Amino acid sequence: MLLAKVATHYRKIRGTKTMKSLADAGLLDRINGSARLMIVSDLDSTMVDHDDSENLSLLRFNALWEAYYRHDSLLVFSTGRSPTSYQKLRNKKPLLTPDITILSVGTEITYGESMVPDTGWTHHLNRKWNRDIVVEETAKFPELAPQSETQQRPHKVSFFVEKVKALEIMSFLSEHLEKRGLDVKIIYSSGIALDILPKSAGKGEALAYLLQNFEVDGKVPLHTLVCGDSGNDSEMFTIPKVHGVMVSNAQDEFLQWYKQNAKNNPNIIHATERCAAGIIQAIGNFCLGPNVSPRDIKDFKKCNVDIFSPGHEVVKFYLLYERWRRAEVDKSEQFVKNLKSGFCPFGIFVHPSGIEQPFHQCLDYMAKLYGDKTEHQFRVWVDRVSSAQIGSDTWLVRFYKWELSGDERQCCVTTVLMSLKPDGFTWVHMHQTWLEGSRARDQTAWCF
Ligand code: GLC
Ligand code: MG
Repeated sequence: MLLAKVATHYRKIRGTKTMKSLADAGLLDRINGSARLMIVSDLDSTMVDHDDSENLSLLRFNALWEAYYRHDSLLVFSTGRSPTSYQKLRNKKPLLTPDITILSVGTEITYGESMVPDTGWTHHLNRKWNRDIVVEETAKFPELAPQSETQQRPHKVSFFVEKVKALEIMSFLSEHLEKRGLDVKIIYSSGIALDILPKSAGKGEALAYLLQNFEVDGKVPLHTLVCGDSGNDSEMFTIPKVHGVMVSNAQDEFLQWYKQNAKNNPNIIHATERCAAGIIQAIGNFCLGPNVSPRDIKDFKKCNVDIFSPGHEVVKFYLLYERWRRAEVDKSEQFVKNLKSGFCPFGIFVHPSGIEQPFHQCLDYMAKLYGDKTEHQFRVWVDRVSSAQIGSDTWLVRFYKWELSGDERQCCVTTVLMSLKPDGFTWVHMHQTWLEGSRARDQTAWCF
């Protein structure tokens, strides 16, 4: 029903930008047809576990996504956060770059890395909405404590309020606002946050709008998985045909909603795992594709995975590199020899400092650094892996390689030329440049 409603609105507004924006962001070139899987995930306490200072489940998800899904699937983050507070989280946590970002509880939709806003969506939210009236009416409730200025947005007015008061205030407010001619939606989340939005906004409506646009273009993802933990996520679970996972740490108000509204829906599970680990669990549960993160593979030689994907190749190499510097693998010459066998002996690595060196020399240097990061919470992840086959056995692979060491975080935009041999990929040439603003203070400390 939600979908039909949005479809009607959709026809009324001046046309949407979803397809054009996705094309501009280069996403449609990558996904030639329908996405195999679209994951639409909340961030706080769903993708991101604030109790996990090492971000292990998030890093497990990242490795899984870049190895097996990035090339033909869509990653959508749908958060209650405003653009500024989303940016803060990105600077703090190892989040991947999503293809689509839905912000401020479904009131803002943006596309691609550069986050091009969907102005059609914003325009559509103005119907029966007047922010000033909302502010005026809510000021009559002293129990409502306004959230910080950065969380207040054109189509979102947010407060904190105690659980015991919330229900009563919500019903009073809807009545008052309706009398003043507005059509609003009031959502309570995490037992503390109260958001007032236009009725046509929200995480569910925003997702329905995206799906509707995909449908117009005949590109509805084969599968959609929505992931959440709190009240503002529940709407996403009402969209027809989507799979849903409530992570194990879901909030009371969300579990309550599930009991009353969706208990018999076989497409929704309450995971036994927390946050991103619950998302991985759901991928397995609904058989949506590979569900073993490369981070969970101890010995790549023994596992039967698709070694012919450039994404998997890149993820695997950097995992082995991380394990070497964290001393999580045995210090053996064989390990370095195995790594070397994947690199062309005459291949050149152009270091971000501009210095050119043969691959094998770089690997010899790396070999000396065994265990140097055991005490630095050292982590490596790759983002936005993309690849193009440019010859019968040649691939050009591009990705963002991130490294976290202590409080320092660096990133290089990386291009690798690989050739595919019967037993896997060989790295032929590699070039890195610093991502603007994330250059290492000591450039010589950067290995790969
Ligand atoms: C996020 C937002 C906050 C909102 C809450 C619930 O925490 O920052 O403004 O109230 O989500 O939607
Ligand atoms: Mg959340």
